[in-house]
Amino acid sequence: MSVLDVRHLSKIYEGKVSYKALDNINFTVDKGEFVGIMGPSGSGKTTLLNMVSTIDSPTSGEVTVNGQNPHGLKKNDIALFRRRKLGFVFQYFNLLDTLTVEENIILPLTLDGVSVSEMNKRLVDITKKLGIDQILKKRTYEISGGQMQRTAIARAMIHKPELLLADEPTGNLDSKSSKDVMETLEHLNQSEGSTMMMVTHDALAASYCSRVIFIKDGQLYNEIYRGANRQAFFQQIIDMLSVLGGDAHELSTARY
Ligand SMILES: Nc1ncnc2c1ncn2[C@@H]1O[C@H](COP(=O)(O)OP(=O)(O)OP(=O)(O)O)[C@@H](O)[C@H]1O
Ligand SMILES: [Mg+2]
Repeated sequence: MSVLDVRHLSKIYEGKVSYKALDNINFTVDKGEFVGIMGPSGSGKTTLLNMVSTIDSPTSGEVTVNGQNPHGLKKNDIALFRRRKLGFVFQYFNLLDTLTVEENIILPLTLDGVSVSEMNKRLVDITKKLGIDQILKKRTYEISGGQMQRTAIARAMIHKPELLLADEPTGNLDSKSSKDVMETLEHLNQSEGSTMMMVTHDALAASYCSRVIFIKDGQLYNEIYRGANRQAFFQQIIDMLSVLGGDAHELSTARY
């Protein structure tokens, strides 16, 4: 069963000179898949993520999440769709530094009026899985970058989204924390069967995905599936990036 369907998706940015950033993109993401999106700078990755996350709307084609096309909804319903069905993880964590770790994580549930006992149950469950159950009372400036990102992941997952979207989640982390965060995402993907899509420049991060889709000049270029061996997949990703060209190969090939 597919969770995400992207059909004939195109995006033209209108301006003095209009620019076709996405050109007839087609793919599906099945339930429980963890898909990486890679491609050179300017290839359309953020544009694609923005269409899927409903931050921006397509020029033509459609996006459906479990059969529902959010772009057909009214403004308020799009906001609800985003809050209830999607989860977001960003490069800059986007945590509120006046709140504790715990308060940051339960914030989305507070907005949706979930009962306190249900909130606590989910909080304990998710923070144990992410290994941050010992730092719940700390404020965000008292924890490490990796802990911040795991807090952000807990916040994105606590309402059990149908699709988790991540934009360069390791972009601000050192290699040790990147590895921790990617292992965490991989573990959640496998233990919860959650469906995830992540944009990244980082071949190491991408090697934790079950499939990587490459885009170039707004078009789908290729996709590769991970076998049993993550190291081998990492090397395949590096090779694909060097064929792709652009700045996509500006990565450390040493850190796996
Ligand atoms: N709001 C906009 N108006 C006009 N053109 C845009 C807009 N946003 C992006 N573009 C153009 O569309 C193309 C795709 O941009 P996009 O941000 O999706 O690339 P990207 O793959 O995310 O790149 P990067 O890896 O650098 O983040 C680029 O050529 C960009 O200049
Ligand atoms: Mg981008």
